[in-house]
Amino acid sequence: MRILAIETSCDETGISIIETEKTTPFEEVKVLANTLLSQASLHAEYGGIFPSLARREHSKNIIPLLVQALTSAGLAHPLPSPRILEEKEEDTLALILKKEMRLSAMFHSDILALETPPIDAIAVTKGPGLEPALWVGINTAQALGALWNVPIIPINHMEGHIVVALLTPFTPKTYRLTPLVYPSLALLISGGHTELVLARGMGDYEILGQTRDDAVGEAFDKVARMLGLPYPGGPEISKLAETAPVAKIPPYPLPRPMLKTDDFDFSFAGLKTAVLYTLKNIINPTQEDKASIAKEFEDSVTEILITKTLNAAVEYKVKEIILGGGVTANKKIREAFQKMVADKLPDVKLFIPARDLSTDNALMIGIAGLIRFNETANDIVAEGHLRLAERIDVNF
Ligand code: KG4
Ligand code: ZN
Repeated sequence: MRILAIETSCDETGISIIETEKTTPFEEVKVLANTLLSQASLHAEYGGIFPSLARREHSKNIIPLLVQALTSAGLAHPLPSPRILEEKEEDTLALILKKEMRLSAMFHSDILALETPPIDAIAVTKGPGLEPALWVGINTAQALGALWNVPIIPINHMEGHIVVALLTPFTPKTYRLTPLVYPSLALLISGGHTELVLARGMGDYEILGQTRDDAVGEAFDKVARMLGLPYPGGPEISKLAETAPVAKIPPYPLPRPMLKTDDFDFSFAGLKTAVLYTLKNIINPTQEDKASIAKEFEDSVTEILITKTLNAAVEYKVKEIILGGGVTANKKIREAFQKMVADKLPDVKLFIPARDLSTDNALMIGIAGLIRFNETANDIVAEGHLRLAERIDVNF
């Protein structure tokens, strides 16, 4: 079985093609292609993501990226002469791509020039994310589905972040997908989300806690900006923090908001403001001052994430913990979770995605598509605020 996956929820255009074989209890996943084009440097000028720019860039890049993915998968075979569509097919394509002039032109010039590839389904991100950006992926998937006569699987981007952590490298181009053991707990930390999610079964989610204001990644990005670092700020803060002088007591202590509250919610806006005031109170902060602040910020975030996750894991007696989302790429956070689980939850299995699969990519959408293979749909609509589940009120 082969799945083509498309991701355009934010500022990365991603296309992947996977091939699978069931080898119980694992599923072996061969990655035929995994292409990614980041717009981060373009958005950096604005200090964050600019939705209409994201949409324009996805529209410009998605077809060339798709052709590149098909080529690297060995599935791009040029036809002797381009496929001529019947009137009905032209009408369908025109309807799907009515708001996508550039895409429509590229479909005709590039996609109709190729043989229909042996793809069994197309998985595409339906949400959450920036709606203008999501639509580019969805329209592309629906147009391809109509042309190639293959079903579409709508995917929740956050579920993609969960399931990609279950991949373990097997050979250079294959992974093994380990099934989850329930109940398990996912901590999702990205640019737009900070959620603690309890999974009682596949797709059976409960949101135990979430941020009340900024997402962790957003806080990293905003604090980076205050420190004069470029977007995306997460990796930059990390690098700067590593250069901080060793100090028993941090020279610029920062708060740990909501660390001790009786719930699983988070709040990072106050921490961000505390960084702002700390910086304002230093006349001409040196590079060393900034590094100390970056380190203390990272320490504060890490401590909060660890404490809340540990509390939820104990409360719900989970068997596994999964980390997901771009902030999972953070070295300090990864190491702190490994240590916490080894010390405090020795019977719990921890899944952390490979660093290059932590941030947005299309492979994660393909894996979610593999798991939800039977859940195909027509007329998919972008949902910017799509949720994994409704949150439940918890107090312990
Ligand atoms: O999951 P993701 O790629 O996109 C969203 O779905 O939002 O997450 C992007 C976020 C950005 O805020 C970025 O600054 C953060 O992940 N990030 C990091 C690191 N790498 C990326 N945050 C902390 N440390 C990192 N190494
Ligand atoms: Zn993401």
